[in-house]
Amino acid sequence: MHLHSAKDLFPVTSEWNESDLRIGGCSVDELAREFDTPLYIYDETTLRQQIREITAAFAPLRVRTSYSAKACAILQVLRVCREEGLDLDVVSAGELAAGMRAGFSPNQIHLHGNYKTDDELEAAARAEIHTVVADSLHDLARIAALANSRGTRVSVALRLRLGLEPSTHPYLTTTGRSSKFGIDPEDLGQAAELTFSGSTVVVTGVHAHLGSQITDAGAYAEMASELLAAATMLRDAGLPVREIGVGGGWAVGYWPGDQSLAPRAVAQALHAHTTANPLFRFAVEPGRAIVARSAVVVYRTGAVKPSPRGRLIAVDGGMGDNPRPALYGARYYCRAVARPFEPSAGLADVVGRYCESGDVLASRVPLPIVLPGDLLCTPVAGAYQLSMASAYNLVPQPAAIMVQDGDARIISRRSTLDDLFARDVD
Ligand SMILES: Cc1ncc(COP(=O)(O)O)c(C=O)c1O
Repeated sequence: MHLHSAKDLFPVTSEWNESDLRIGGCSVDELAREFDTPLYIYDETTLRQQIREITAAFAPLRVRTSYSAKACAILQVLRVCREEGLDLDVVSAGELAAGMRAGFSPNQIHLHGNYKTDDELEAAARAEIHTVVADSLHDLARIAALANSRGTRVSVALRLRLGLEPSTHPYLTTTGRSSKFGIDPEDLGQAAELTFSGSTVVVTGVHAHLGSQITDAGAYAEMASELLAAATMLRDAGLPVREIGVGGGWAVGYWPGDQSLAPRAVAQALHAHTTANPLFRFAVEPGRAIVARSAVVVYRTGAVKPSPRGRLIAVDGGMGDNPRPALYGARYYCRAVARPFEPSAGLADVVGRYCESGDVLASRVPLPIVLPGDLLCTPVAGAYQLSMASAYNLVPQPAAIMVQDGDARIISRRSTLDDLFARDVD
């Protein structure tokens, strides 16, 4: 367990001076002027460092590590993940296409998801990706039918709905007996039968994902025990199960003092299982822990109003680029870029520009005096923000840039008015 200081929340290259923040050797104030706001700034050094920390933690355990594209599927982010040697988890034909465009070999790609369309299964089979993760007996039967009709071998992992109830937000829990994800362990016998009936589907793994923002490493050891029992049962039934996938979900801190879960702690929790079971290879698939800290988002402030809770500071972004606070009360921190060392003038709610009262980006943040036109910077913005962004209120979606060694390049351009109407048929 690790408790974050405010500094730990920002990218590793962050340097504050009296009136500005520099990330990747670039002035945030200048970047905001050049690229406009809201602006997502990804720091390549932080991204690579996060990946290397994970790879180093798991290297002694011979664990396969994937990046979960759902956290952020911008092509240049995916490219960095590929260059650093990760595999890729996808949940749609769109993410599959992103992975291929980013140069992943199909053999590094794994398709998850509780609902896969026929087209998506077809695309996965055509590309000959590494594994399709079956989420239900229905899914497994469809994958088997498709494999048989194509006459090709499809390697499948069975996602299990284990009885574990990790402590996190209910919307972030993806196991437990009422979860929409996974096959009940009691149904594994049926799953085995389905794959025996002359099909070209081969069950090579079992998998589970606890949820997100999990702070307890012990939960991974517990899950690994249950998965090993299931895998052993399937092997006894004659299936060539080799891989135990324990998902992702390692917590990252969003607020000073938040707990996070270090990759090293997950590796330690799995260590006894990996050494005692050399027949199996383990796999992990974090998303947030790889990409969250690598980015900040910078907003320009508008009106500042008094409120009984303190101040309301309106900014030029909100739930369109970051729906997480409105979706499940995610709590964000922020700093005034030009006044980093000024004392707090009291608590403020940073509210978005979207026409919803629930569009509050950061609640009760201690901030100095903030004037209209100032920049506010929210750290830990790299995951599940742009990938969940919408064009609600027909507000263009923000640009993302990648910075490194004083250079900044656009990795996802701001959408234009024409983009907003590109799908309308008038
Ligand atoms: C199957 C699966 N694997 C991995 C992840 C990644 O989770 P996180 O980004 O919290 O590590 C998710 C997220 O929902 C998931 O559903």
